[in-house]
Amino acid sequence: MDVLLGLQWGDEGKGKIVDVLSPKYDIISRFQGGPNAGHSLEFGDFKHVLHSIPSGIFRDNTLNLIGNGVVLDPVIFKNEIDKIKKIKPEALNRLYLSKKVHLILPTHKVLDAASEAAKGKTKIGSTLKGIGPTYMDKTGRNGLRIGDIFEDDFIERYNFLKNKHLHILKQYDFSFDIKEQEQEWFEGIKSIKQFKAIDGAYFVNDALKEGKKVLAEGAQGTLLDIEFGTYPFVTSSNTVSAGASTGLGVAPNKIGEVIGIFKAYTTRVGSGPFPTELFDEDGKYLQNQGHEFGATTGRERRCGWLDLPALKYAVMINGITKLIMTKADVLSGLKNFKVAVAYKVKGKETSKVPYEFNEHLKPVYIDFEGWNEDLANVKTYDKLPAQLKNYIEFIEKETGAPVWIVSLGPDREATIIRD
Ligand code: GDP
Ligand code: IMO
Ligand code: MG
Repeated sequence: MDVLLGLQWGDEGKGKIVDVLSPKYDIISRFQGGPNAGHSLEFGDFKHVLHSIPSGIFRDNTLNLIGNGVVLDPVIFKNEIDKIKKIKPEALNRLYLSKKVHLILPTHKVLDAASEAAKGKTKIGSTLKGIGPTYMDKTGRNGLRIGDIFEDDFIERYNFLKNKHLHILKQYDFSFDIKEQEQEWFEGIKSIKQFKAIDGAYFVNDALKEGKKVLAEGAQGTLLDIEFGTYPFVTSSNTVSAGASTGLGVAPNKIGEVIGIFKAYTTRVGSGPFPTELFDEDGKYLQNQGHEFGATTGRERRCGWLDLPALKYAVMINGITKLIMTKADVLSGLKNFKVAVAYKVKGKETSKVPYEFNEHLKPVYIDFEGWNEDLANVKTYDKLPAQLKNYIEFIEKETGAPVWIVSLGPDREATIIRD
């Protein structure tokens, strides 16, 4: 099994690349996160954003599994299903769900919103999809799972958990009404029942034994990992490669390539530290050229230069064997650009990501020469501008990992694979 995951704060282009690589695999599987993810796919005139469904869904011979580590909102899931039904209904025959997937309840979403409102200025900037509260119930051993929806006492268990949430919500000064949402939620549950709810661990391990190829598709990014990210401004799951083991039931020694994807610069949605963030014309340039708006919430993404210490840290934590650089085309037209190679903390320089990853951390930059060429039609690595190749080779040298793919646009076709 190979793993593909984000090395920054999410939105590195995972959806596009998984779609590109899917023909090489028999199974694509999400292993963590939930509908906080927004994975965009583009080919020709077709554009689609997936939230819970793996990005192999539009490829004819690929099975897609929503693995046990994922949290699922039945309402969002049903919406996704209804859209795919209109575009490519047969694709849904290739979709499987682990019985161990935890369910996001309407009250989880209210708890997310109430908690964020109570935090005021210190809010996480969550996607308000109920992710944190659902994982809290999972580790608190109170959660509801897909397997439970087939049990006779499901409604009682739902009400028990809902009432617990309503009790907690009394602590907040937060008004809400979930009547309509509850109705939609139970419609969503009906929709889930039409799919193959399976034991995902046997499904994947049996496939591996038969020599099938599996790709685990990460959501979010390494700097949003609950353990290794910029805590507390993180998500509530393990986004790193180790999460693919727990999120699917595949042992670490069954993992082959760990493919890390990063943008040629950096973006972040929501709150939290971002040492290389730009507030100037260059930042606006990246924002405009890169169309940097959230695929899930539509929020403007904060933009900045590449943060090399953070990238090296992500390569280390994940055991990255291959790198993918996306959005290299967005840098076209910049005379010069920068890369942070170290940080200054209290007058001292370090090239490691410190525990105190906060606004006092100042990046130490080096300059790179830009290029003007439009990269849309470049099909081979050697045709790339020398300045971009120089940048790529610098990153390879610094991280010790080869840049296997360079992505030059949102479309499937705008991809250079260096095999
Ligand atoms: P994900 O969450 O990692 O799947 O990434 P998103 O889909 O949220 O955000 C990436 C955005 O960049 C999407 O709008 C993609 O269509 C787009 N994209 C992906 N790769 C490239 C690329 O190489 N160049 C450009 N210009 N856009 C890209
Ligand atoms: P993909 O898979 C970018 C961010 C939110 C917020 C923090 C916590 O598309 O890369 P949460 O809703 O998870 O409790 O929010 O994490 N975040 C993402 N940022 N891409 C994502 O997913 C994200 N999923 C969550 O903006 O700062
Ligand atoms: Mg995204």
